[in-house]
Amino acid sequence: MEKYVLVTGGAGYIGSHTVVSLVENGYTPVILDDFRNANRVVIDGLTKILGKKPIIIELDVCDQNGVKEIFESYKFEGIIHFAAYKAVGESVDEPLKYYQNNLMGLINILSNMIEFNVKNLVFSSSCTVYGEPKGIKEVTEETPKNFPNSPYGFTKWIGEQIIEDTFKANPSLNLMNLRYFNPVGAHKSSLIGEFPIGKPNNLMPYITQTAIGKQEELIVFGNDYPTIDGTCIRDYIHVVDLAYAHVKAIVFLAGKFGSFETINIGTGKGSSVLEIISAFESETGQKLKWKYGKRRSGDVTEIFANATKAKNILEWEAKLSIKDAVIDAWNWEKKLIEHNEK
Ligand code: WQD
Repeated sequence: MEKYVLVTGGAGYIGSHTVVSLVENGYTPVILDDFRNANRVVIDGLTKILGKKPIIIELDVCDQNGVKEIFESYKFEGIIHFAAYKAVGESVDEPLKYYQNNLMGLINILSNMIEFNVKNLVFSSSCTVYGEPKGIKEVTEETPKNFPNSPYGFTKWIGEQIIEDTFKANPSLNLMNLRYFNPVGAHKSSLIGEFPIGKPNNLMPYITQTAIGKQEELIVFGNDYPTIDGTCIRDYIHVVDLAYAHVKAIVFLAGKFGSFETINIGTGKGSSVLEIISAFESETGQKLKWKYGKRRSGDVTEIFANATKAKNILEWEAKLSIKDAVIDAWNWEKKLIEHNEK
């Protein structure tokens, strides 16, 4: 008996790694993706890792008739909803694109879950909902949410609220918000990984692209923060650990009759920008060209997860290290060059 899980945005960075983890744990993922933010090369990579091509439905998650047909075709154990735009800076320039796509996609999924009596949903949320936690560095799920500093962050903030209100009106549903910290790294095989479109915003892809020569030099945004070395601190979590957390979330929800939880998915440890650079250089032997620049507006000084609830509720904790992440990210970057050279 197939245990189908709908993975919206399943061709994306976190989505594709979650597809692998689902198959490794006996589930049959059904990928819903229109590849607007994903590279089709990832399907070749998934096919090689899994030994067969995964089920893929090329569709806009906001397409009401199309999504309805999918729910008519499959009896889903659960839904993992990744499909959303996620570039903080872009969301400031194009807020309506973000609100329309990110919120209507979620509403379309939830409406079909209710219509087709699908009970279990895992929502891709983000630590960005904490904004600049006033003087708090280690955040728990009870840490008050602050207004995020971007429309992207607000779509996660409002998304969580939509889910909570949907649960209150439909208390037999099993709904879960997973608040990710900073996903980094790639699958050990280097067959799937992150495909930043254009100049990367995030630190790790910028490091690997600088090392491989795609970018001229890494700018470290600020060295005058009140931290151990003056640079910002984040909770960098290996994407393979993050993917497995989604499987554990689906397992947790499968046995419930009415559940609503919000859970931090992080390592529980903070690392500074300089510590990431140093780990990259020492683990890969690559000397990185970088210099200090001015602070980036909107950056939080320091934030990392209290990951106790994930351990207690999901029986999950991060296993891979920053060293694993920088090595896997670098191996992926080198593989990307090969892809591009084909
Ligand atoms: C990390 C640190 C930068 C680039 C964002 C989103 C968040 C989540 C993860 C989706 C910061 C510094 C970065 C560079 C640098 N995304 N940096 N030079 O901003 O913590 O979080 O990605 O859910 O929602 O907000 O990640 O990787 O951009 O930055 O110095 O070229 O690296 O200042 O201190 P961030 P990031």
